[in-house]
Amino acid sequence: MARGTAFLGSRYAIMAGAMSWVSERHLVSAISNAGGFGVIACGAMPVELLDKEIAATKALTTKPFGVNLITMHPQLIELIGVCAAHKVSHIVLAGGLPSAPAMEAIKASGAKLMCFAPTAALAKKLVRTGADALVIEGSEAGGHIGPVSTSVLAQEILPVITDVPVFVAGGIGRGNAIAAYLEMGASGVQLGTRFAACSESIAHPAFKKAFIRASAREAVASVQLDPRLPVIPVRALKNAGTEAFTEKQRDVAARIDAGEMDLAAGQLEIEHYWAGALRRAVIDGDVEGGSLMAGQSVGMVTAEVPVADVIAELVTDAEAALARRAA
Ligand SMILES: Cc1cc2nc3c(=O)[nH]c(=O)nc-3n(C[C@H](O)[C@H](O)[C@H](O)COP(=O)(O)O)c2cc1C
Repeated sequence: MARGTAFLGSRYAIMAGAMSWVSERHLVSAISNAGGFGVIACGAMPVELLDKEIAATKALTTKPFGVNLITMHPQLIELIGVCAAHKVSHIVLAGGLPSAPAMEAIKASGAKLMCFAPTAALAKKLVRTGADALVIEGSEAGGHIGPVSTSVLAQEILPVITDVPVFVAGGIGRGNAIAAYLEMGASGVQLGTRFAACSESIAHPAFKKAFIRASAREAVASVQLDPRLPVIPVRALKNAGTEAFTEKQRDVAARIDAGEMDLAAGQLEIEHYWAGALRRAVIDGDVEGGSLMAGQSVGMVTAEVPVADVIAELVTDAEAALARRAA
């Protein structure tokens, strides 16, 4: 992990991936205080809220942490400005390929820039255009996902990206998996699902209970029934909301076919279906109608425990796995 810890400035190269509504001051500071690397999820936050969240996180930890910004946020440049004013050390750009002005603004702020690389070709391009480190995230992950598994991305990208640290994410639940990716050339890892239900997480007790009860096969990717409808692939726990979404797609497609609705209106209805749904699940505890974004590693979440316990378990397991190999 040496390369990863040197880059992050944390004790362990274990990042807690930003999770909208979950990764706020309490969880982020707890991760960084326990030796991991916490990342604030800016999500759709306006500038003033991000400003407050960074200040509040700084009040809870003296350790380094990062901020995750979504590339299509309409105030992206202003958000980068807030990070710069707080001297945030690491900015992660998520949600699509970053624009050159955004990358340049981050570099000019003095922060280290981390980007998500979905393919080896784009990984090389991101490094060429200024990314200081990459995250590769496979389809086992919770939240918005790409089509390729973590193990395949790791095999394709780790051997060809050697100039910058690469962090592997998606489906990591145990230390022996961390050891395996480090052996393959990763500088560190990023986990989300295993941290979402920790004691320090502000997620609603019902959200945490759903994580504790769920098994891997319940964390499913959203299904697109009709190629005309814009269904973004998201991995979340199956619930009444995911079933109703399938029904909604069927209904909208039928209305379009019958000429009762034009295509643009139908697409908009699908696009807006999940608006506010993650907040409803995380904050309000609506585990039936809300979006319970979770990765396949959710089966390894079996109790509500402090972040420090999860990190200690991961590190002990990883060390034991590496020691076994050395022996
Ligand atoms: C509830 C939830 C919300 C998430 N929100 C975001 C987000 O806002 N931005 C982002 O880049 N990734 C988001 N992710 C992905 C995580 O940052 C992380 O990369 C992922 O959880 C790692 O895979 P794992 O779930 O298998 O551990 C989210 C994941 C979960 C489970």
